[in-house]
Amino acid sequence: MAGLESSSLGGEIVERIAELGTISQTKEHLARLFLTPEHRAAAELILGWMREAGMRAHLDAIGNVCGRYEGERPGLPCLMLGSHYDTVRDAGKWDGPLGLITAISCVASLNRRGRRMPFAIEVVGFADEEGVRFASTLLGSRAIAGTFDQSVLDTRDREGVTMRQAIKDFGLDPDHIGAAARTRHELLAYLELHIEQGPVLEEHNLPLGVVTAIAGATRLSARLTGMAGHAGTVPMALRRDALTGAAECTLAIEEFCRTDHGGLVGTVGYIHAAPGATNVIPGQVSFTMDIRAPTDQHRKRAVTDVIRRLEAIAKRRKLALQLSVTHENRTVPCAPWLRAQVADAIAKEGLGAFELASGAGHDGMAMVDIADVGMIFVRCRGGVSHHPDEHVESADADVGARVLLRVIENFRPGAGTP
Ligand code: GLV
Ligand code: MN
Ligand code: MN
Repeated sequence: MAGLESSSLGGEIVERIAELGTISQTKEHLARLFLTPEHRAAAELILGWMREAGMRAHLDAIGNVCGRYEGERPGLPCLMLGSHYDTVRDAGKWDGPLGLITAISCVASLNRRGRRMPFAIEVVGFADEEGVRFASTLLGSRAIAGTFDQSVLDTRDREGVTMRQAIKDFGLDPDHIGAAARTRHELLAYLELHIEQGPVLEEHNLPLGVVTAIAGATRLSARLTGMAGHAGTVPMALRRDALTGAAECTLAIEEFCRTDHGGLVGTVGYIHAAPGATNVIPGQVSFTMDIRAPTDQHRKRAVTDVIRRLEAIAKRRKLALQLSVTHENRTVPCAPWLRAQVADAIAKEGLGAFELASGAGHDGMAMVDIADVGMIFVRCRGGVSHHPDEHVESADADVGARVLLRVIENFRPGAGTP
């Protein structure tokens, strides 16, 4: 049982969150993008923690850190736990690492007590959930689910490096990604603990929540092409300025989502103007869009409407518009039987088992292709995430670990109540 032994896990988790948070591409802020040297250094640290916790651990061909703690006998199917270890730019320390580090600490607790379960436990640090470097997301979990799209290997980052080359530079072989794939019969379930990244649990004064579903998302990239020209000589009426076109598109997306009132959210998170000089009219602009809604139908309708609006703006401004969908994921429900086991563990801690949906994306969106998925959310201070002020209280990290350990120790594959 998760007893006194687990009550100290929060301290270890917070220390490790801080240590991992120092591994960053820049000193000023946390950024640990997929397949960078810092990503590699983080992987080595996590491998060490897994081994210390009694797991066999290795890096798979896409850079997932994979640890396995055998059950009562070797080779049993596993309960897979995990989260991602890549970050956004100027990130918080908790998004991803909290779930990964908590899972490792839970296994370490079992190992210290010599406890073996009637199933194996695997912990995965997914290599890329955020999709920041190559626009395509969930790359680590898609490799494990066997749904990795080989064509993304030819996509390039902002510096022009292909993913294929970046994988080689990381010390891995892109031709072996297929070997990372797992099958449905190897997994009993996939369970992830994650910072909520929103304000709902805090509003309800609760440290933990049971996730009902992970909302789908569509990401697009757009390129507007006009005509570069002299900032001093071309009269305003004759310009085909791609940047003012992109600005109008951005405002149109904001207006469209703001007046939807049905939970639709749309974000232009990256914009690049070329040639990029003070005295040159921007001739070409690239920007990204991220569109999410509570239902897939709603999101798909919204994407169609947004595209229509962008096309109208481009036409009126005599700009050429090129659009491509870089990522699309349907809404993924969490399995009722896993929700029941998480709710029961939370209730046994004397807490209300509050249910909420996830507006953020998670690796479960890919893992659902080979396993039932469950998620536990941990309260997030002020609802602030994808921001350096992201924070989880140590006491909440501790109760999260106690609940995860309780779920593991009472885990019954496919059963509605433990
Ligand atoms: C990941 O954090 C996402 O929801 O984009
Ligand atoms: Mn995350
Ligand atoms: Mn994130």
